[in-house]
Amino acid sequence: VTGALTNAQFLLDRHPDGTLLESHFRKVVSPIPIPRGGQVLCRTLFLSLDPANRAWMQGRTYRDQIRAGEVMSGFTLSEVVDGRQGGISSGMIVACEAGWQEYAALPASDLRKIEVRGALSHHLSVLGITGMTAYFGLFEIGRVCPGETVVVSAAAGATGNVVGQLARIAGARVVGVSGSDDKNRILEDELGFHGTVNYRSERFLEQLKDCCPDGVDVYFDNVAGEVLAAVLLRMNTYGRVVCCGAVSQYESTGRPAGPPAVPGLIVTRRLRMEGFIVTDFRQRWEEAIARLSGLVDDGRLRVIEDIWDGLDAAPAALVDLLRGGNVGKRMVRVADSTEGTAS
Ligand SMILES: NC(=O)c1ccc[n+]([C@@H]2O[C@H](COP(=O)([O-])OP(=O)(O)OC[C@H]3O[C@@H](n4cnc5c(N)ncnc54)[C@H](OP(=O)(O)O)[C@@H]3O)[C@@H](O)[C@H]2O)c1
Repeated sequence: VTGALTNAQFLLDRHPDGTLLESHFRKVVSPIPIPRGGQVLCRTLFLSLDPANRAWMQGRTYRDQIRAGEVMSGFTLSEVVDGRQGGISSGMIVACEAGWQEYAALPASDLRKIEVRGALSHHLSVLGITGMTAYFGLFEIGRVCPGETVVVSAAAGATGNVVGQLARIAGARVVGVSGSDDKNRILEDELGFHGTVNYRSERFLEQLKDCCPDGVDVYFDNVAGEVLAAVLLRMNTYGRVVCCGAVSQYESTGRPAGPPAVPGLIVTRRLRMEGFIVTDFRQRWEEAIARLSGLVDDGRLRVIEDIWDGLDAAPAALVDLLRGGNVGKRMVRVADSTEGTAS
C-alpha cells in the first residue's frame, strides 16, 4: 500500500428509530487491515448509496441486520492493492461490499471482477446492480410488451430512470411518478418519458388517471405505500406489479400505509404481484451488461449519475437520498484508481 497508512471508516454509531440522521454515524481512523487466509486487500474507489442501506438497519432482510458499532455496510467498486493471499492480481477492479471505509480485507470469493467498459462509475449505475435490477425487473418480472402502459415510481432515481428508458426503448408508453416537478421535467424533456405525476401534489390521483387513459399494464413499484395503493386501482386485467422495493417504508416506525382490500382487486383483475431480488438473476448479469452497454454506446440509454466527493460525504449523501435529493444513481467517489481507470 502506498500513501496512506490509516483507514478512515464510518461506523453506524446509534441505531436509528425513524428518520436517519448524519449523527447516527461516527468516523474513526484505524490501521489498514492486513489480509490473511485467502483475503484480499481492497481500496475503495466508489461507494454506492442505496435506500436498502436504511432497510438493512431495520432488521433482517435478505441479509443480516447492521448493528450499532459496526462499519456501515455498502456496495463498492474497489481496486485490489494486495491480492497475493487470494491469488488475485493487484490493480484488478472488483465489485464487492467493502462498506464505508477506505480499505477492506475481503475473502477473494466475495469479489466480482469488473471488465471496465467506459466510465468506471457506470459499473455502479447502469452496468451495476441498478441496471441489473431495472433490466430483470422490467423484462423478467414485468414482461413488458410494445404498446403497453408502464408506470414506474421513484422514476428519477437510480433504478427508476433506467426502467423508464428501457420501457420506452421496448415500445411501451411510460409514465413516471416522482416527488418533484423539477425531476418530472427532466424525465419528460431529457429521458423521453411520455408523462409524469408528482405524488406530493394534491391532484396526484387525478393526474395519474389523466396520464394513464388506457389503464396500467405494468407497475414497477420502488416505493410501496400510498403510491402502490393509487396505481393498483388503475391496473388493467392481467396487469403485472413488479415489487422491487418499498422505500416509503424504510424509515417508518408505526403501521405502514398500504393498499386496502388488495386480495379482492388482485382476483377480479387477475393481477400478478411478484417480488424479486436482483441476485436471483446473477447467472444472467453478463447478458444484461452486454445489452445495456450496447444501448449506452448507441446513445439510446442515457446514464444519469449523482456523484459526491470524498468518504466524509457519505452520511449526508445517504440521509439526503432518503429525502429524495438525488437524480439518478447516487454514489461517493472515495479515491481515484492508481491505474487511472476511475473517471
Ligand atoms: N429488489 C432488488 O433486488 C432491488 C435492488 C436495488 C434496489 N431496489 C429497490 O429499488 C428502489 C429504488 O432504489 P434506488 O437505489 O434506485 O434508489 P433511488 O430511486 O435512486 O432513491 C430513492 C428515491 O425514492 C424516493 N422516495 C423517498 N422517499 C419516498 C417516499 N416516502 N415515497 C415515495 N418515494 C420516495 C425519492 O425520490 P422522490 O423525489 O421521487 O421522492 C428517492 O430519490 C428501492 O426501493 C430499493 O430498495 C431493489
